[in-house]
Amino acid sequence: MTQTFSSTGRDTYVGSARSRVDGPAKVTGLAKYAGEFAAPNLAHGYVVSSAIACGKITSIDTSAAEAVPGVIKVITHENRERTAWRDKNYQDAVAPPGSPFRALYDSKIHFSGQPVALVVAEDFETARYAATLVSVSYEAQAAITDPAQMREFGYVPPVKRSGIKPPPKPWGDADGAYEGSAIKLRQDYRLAIEHHNPMEPHASTVVYEGDGKYTVYDKIQGVSNSHDYITAVFGLKKDDVRVLNPYLGGAFGLGLRPQYQLFLAMLAAQDLERSVRVVLTRDQMWSLSYRPDVLQTISLGADKDGTLRSLRHDALSGTSRYEDYQEVVVNWSGVLYKCDNVALTYKLAQLDTATPSDMRAPGATTGVFAIEIAMDELAYETGIDPVTLRLRNFSDTDATAGGKPFGSKELKSCFAHGAERFGWERRDPTPRSMRDGRELVGWGMATGVWESMMMQSSAHAILTAEGKLEVGNSTGDLGTGTYTILTQIAADTLGLTMEDVTTKLGDTHLPEAPVAGGSWTAASSGTAVMKACRNVGEQVFRMARQMENSPLANVEFDRVAFTNGRMEVAGDPSRSVSIVETLKAAGVQKVEATETAGPDKDFNDAYESYTHSAVFVEVKVDEDLGQVRVTRVVSAIAAGKILNLKTARSQILGGVVMGIGSALEEESMMDHRIGRFVNHNLGEYHVPVNADVYDIDVIFVHEEDKANALGVKGLGEIGIVGTAAAISNAVFHATGKRVRNLPITVDKLL
Ligand code: MOS
Repeated sequence: MTQTFSSTGRDTYVGSARSRVDGPAKVTGLAKYAGEFAAPNLAHGYVVSSAIACGKITSIDTSAAEAVPGVIKVITHENRERTAWRDKNYQDAVAPPGSPFRALYDSKIHFSGQPVALVVAEDFETARYAATLVSVSYEAQAAITDPAQMREFGYVPPVKRSGIKPPPKPWGDADGAYEGSAIKLRQDYRLAIEHHNPMEPHASTVVYEGDGKYTVYDKIQGVSNSHDYITAVFGLKKDDVRVLNPYLGGAFGLGLRPQYQLFLAMLAAQDLERSVRVVLTRDQMWSLSYRPDVLQTISLGADKDGTLRSLRHDALSGTSRYEDYQEVVVNWSGVLYKCDNVALTYKLAQLDTATPSDMRAPGATTGVFAIEIAMDELAYETGIDPVTLRLRNFSDTDATAGGKPFGSKELKSCFAHGAERFGWERRDPTPRSMRDGRELVGWGMATGVWESMMMQSSAHAILTAEGKLEVGNSTGDLGTGTYTILTQIAADTLGLTMEDVTTKLGDTHLPEAPVAGGSWTAASSGTAVMKACRNVGEQVFRMARQMENSPLANVEFDRVAFTNGRMEVAGDPSRSVSIVETLKAAGVQKVEATETAGPDKDFNDAYESYTHSAVFVEVKVDEDLGQVRVTRVVSAIAAGKILNLKTARSQILGGVVMGIGSALEEESMMDHRIGRFVNHNLGEYHVPVNADVYDIDVIFVHEEDKANALGVKGLGEIGIVGTAAAISNAVFHATGKRVRNLPITVDKLL
């Protein structure tokens, strides 16, 4: 079936710029977040966090806390109720190999800030105060938190993380070719540890419904993951638990896995047979997870004309002692550049920290930053323009996947459109050659790449006799615009207005969808919604064909266009019938369908799918102060069909701003002597604010892709990838100083 969105009569919603349908609810405060849902007789839990990073608890004295009026119970590993989980490790949907952290399991301390007690009280303030009275004694051991200290113990993860491609086997002879190359470059690269810091802190409200049943509001990027976790860990039946999370105040990957506040709130609710809420403080957010510290080395061997002869990208990533967290760090170098001699390696080092986690473009943010600075260094070494150098080594197939072709790759168009908009041809490549008053001006660029994925996802569509449509599934909208694009797709598929459509998300009573992550939600849930609407449309069409003197008699479904609330014969608007009249004539109150969409196996067997970008950046550097301003960014994106120009642009803006953070500001500082992040608050962990953000120009180049019926590839992550490298490259152009250890703080420039 080949129904397209170009229905007759009016423009389609898909492809246009639309404001968020959830915007009014958010700005008026009607949208509720996990920590805001009320319940009668709600108790409040406050977490007591470990003061040491490694060792064990020798004793906990909770008597003073328990004596505070209003305190209901202080739960520790010593008095907690037995859960179904006690003797086994439940692995959630996105858990890496290993044994997930179990809060209040025993006396062992795995990381600084680990929860060691939950104080439950009648109100939040009482719980918080009483938590300060819990006295914990520890037997501390030396913590190792710096991967550099563990270099000799680096290991290849024995079990691959599901969905993560390990590095491909090397091809050619990278080391031999390096030695024989006219130009040799070898450098180390490091990106500081970053914390996600979504605006909304993690929270869970567990409403006890009586009779062993719970309604749970949890901060999560997909309620099905929390639901499966709760039923497995607490030994409950599927129908005993309903999980909802209609809105998220950002997540960036920190909401992919159920976090410990969910376990603690459930534990207390089950124990007390009462509703309980647990909200983490901003500083406790530093104890959950983080973008890992990865030590990278890149070796490039090239001819004098810049042709790559050898490419090595080696990475050692920190993980915890209990899980082998893995992400794709080094493969990107082999995806982006054509080279006959390539070695890509990825090892882990165990640290006394919490398990790192996916954070916006996990692995790509880290690995692409390194290769894209290295390529800039090669451009300077060879005297070749950075764009030209990338075109010279352009990959037409994916060497990391045995040379499979790309489903689509309009990266050259990104270079061309981005360079033109930026004015790249006016660049004098000599470092320190451009000035604006007392500031040095630098222009740099980089490539971005991210995998384009699709996951199995179901969705339903319910059309009422009044012509109102509801669509939805259980996935989450992180603030990315999922409600809006699904509304557009549904409205176009059945020829309704967006006002006719209500989209529901984040509820385990809706059809099951995966966590919203990996930039796969538009493709996965978008296609599922379209299929469900098509199914409904076909049912209504059949009813219309059976009407007396039906204008659609003898017409096949694929010749019908849905437009303006009507079904009409394509190319013959005189033959049409209204949806509402059809339902009335058929005497039907509603028509519904649930459909499932998933990856296209044939397509995936034949092609590799990625999104690409070219990022051009202008910085201005005050040499006396070492201050860097990112005054201009042009980000040209190839990501297939763009569903909504406004929310799509917003995704790229957010990614670019986060890239500015990576390049210049974000850095969780670990005091390795005590194994603790010391700047665990937004006063000392800097993220870009409005004053740090100037002009960001987003271009979407034309790209047609057939991985799914919508032609969409996903946009949540590509905006951050490459941005930090482009900034570092621009800083080199401005100052002549090459910074390979981000963020580029004042001390590194002075
Ligand atoms: Mo994204 S890091 O998969 O939420």
